Amino acid sequence: MKSKVSTLNRDGRQISPWQRSVKTSIPVMHANERTVYDVLIVGAGITGLTAALKLQTAGKRTVVAEAFTIGYGTTGGTSAHINTFADTTYTEAESAFGEEGAKLFKQAILDGYHTITDNVAEYKINCDLETRPGYVYAEDDEQEKQLKDLYDGATKVGVAIEYVNEVPVKVPYQKAVMLDGQAQFDPLKYLSALANEYLKAGGVILQHTMVNEVQCHEGVHTATTANGTIKASNVIYATHMPPHINVFNMKCAPYRSYVLGVELVDHEDVPDALIYDLQEPYHYFRSHVVNGQKLLLVGGNDHKTGHDDPEQAFDDLENYVRQYYNVKSVVYKWSSQYYVPVDGLPYVGQMPLQADGTYCATGYNGNGMMLGSVSGAILADMILGNENPLTELFNAKRMKPIDGFTEFIKENADVAYHFVADKFKGQHLDSFNELEPGTGKLIDIDGQKLAAYKDDAGKVHALSPVCTHMGCNVAWNACEKSWDCPCHGARYDIDGKVVTGPATKDLEQIELPETSN
Ligand code: FES
Repeated sequence: MKSKVSTLNRDGRQISPWQRSVKTSIPVMHANERTVYDVLIVGAGITGLTAALKLQTAGKRTVVAEAFTIGYGTTGGTSAHINTFADTTYTEAESAFGEEGAKLFKQAILDGYHTITDNVAEYKINCDLETRPGYVYAEDDEQEKQLKDLYDGATKVGVAIEYVNEVPVKVPYQKAVMLDGQAQFDPLKYLSALANEYLKAGGVILQHTMVNEVQCHEGVHTATTANGTIKASNVIYATHMPPHINVFNMKCAPYRSYVLGVELVDHEDVPDALIYDLQEPYHYFRSHVVNGQKLLLVGGNDHKTGHDDPEQAFDDLENYVRQYYNVKSVVYKWSSQYYVPVDGLPYVGQMPLQADGTYCATGYNGNGMMLGSVSGAILADMILGNENPLTELFNAKRMKPIDGFTEFIKENADVAYHFVADKFKGQHLDSFNELEPGTGKLIDIDGQKLAAYKDDAGKVHALSPVCTHMGCNVAWNACEKSWDCPCHGARYDIDGKVVTGPATKDLEQIELPETSN
């Protein structure tokens, strides 16, 4: 079996420190087209590989199909916080799912936490796992009320939390709480070790294998890929957002989040803690030693995908950290994507309106490490027939009437456009002259838009801007050099190739007449 040691890729041009810290050697493998596997898992991030390892070691024959390389999506771009609390506070969980629901949500968070720490212990994974205290601070009276909500909710479900007078952060604050026993790790070192254990257990990983469609006939799901077909009794979409048009497009909103890894003049200033503010959008701080260099990771400035300027988000983040810290250099900057569920909790389990045995897990908010891990475990339990008390709470078919749902839908449903490629043939496209090399832009020509990127050699890469998922116009992401869809978060590279679902078809490439640069 051929295998090649390689660094891991990600769905953007910016490099996360995790990509630099790990090399993998996944062999080139093939699925047996005559075998009906027990489970096909689509996506090799933390959800997919957690489920795969659990299923394979329990005796199920599984195959993982990944469109790119392991950790290519959000697992390779997370800031890797492992917490005992979540973006959806326990108070919010209680108001939407009742007291019992809030307690179960706490159990889910802790189960996710322990899925990671148990795997690390069992497989002796070296992934920089460290336990740290966590702090959340309020900077004004309004935020103090939020802090009290956080405190009350956590206390009620039994998560240890206390008010403290000191936070190891340089930002002035009014009041703060401390949650002991938070943790952090290197997500790709962890993921790579999970993949190795899964292969040792007899699993199959097919990298560079995008699943285009799955048909189910008499209980057998047949997936079509460019490399052949895969048959399985069950299919898990561990792709963050499941592909194609589905109900989760309306129930989960895509967000981009930003992180800087900075070296400070005085290393003593880097806090050995996980620290969060309560601004909207929020910021966080933590430390990580990457290849021997101790960095301050500062992140946040999240916004809806395709709705704000990513360069501005990075600039604001850098200005923010420089306001309080003496920054020597910005060593890393990268962004990634997550999905906010409309009622605050993830959707995990049998997909609605799909053949039996079709599963998904999505809507982790900014807590993908715990929720991805616990979701992988829940899905494995469902297929293994094990009772799991969390199955009902995260039921992917639930229909919760939620205040503001209509607003959520409206905000999420931008206008669909149509595109007529022929219109551009033979035009003298002076508009490209103003495009600087290395930049992209939607260019308006006679009332119709074209997605154009000019590379460093001056060549224009022109695409239809119409997202192949449901027809919204994509927006240029100058930092990750991608075209991002503001509706449901699909993303494409400069040549229109899909890098993030739910789209599975590339943007249409447009042939241009000769242009002057
Ligand atoms: Fe749905 Fe683009 S991702 S229209």
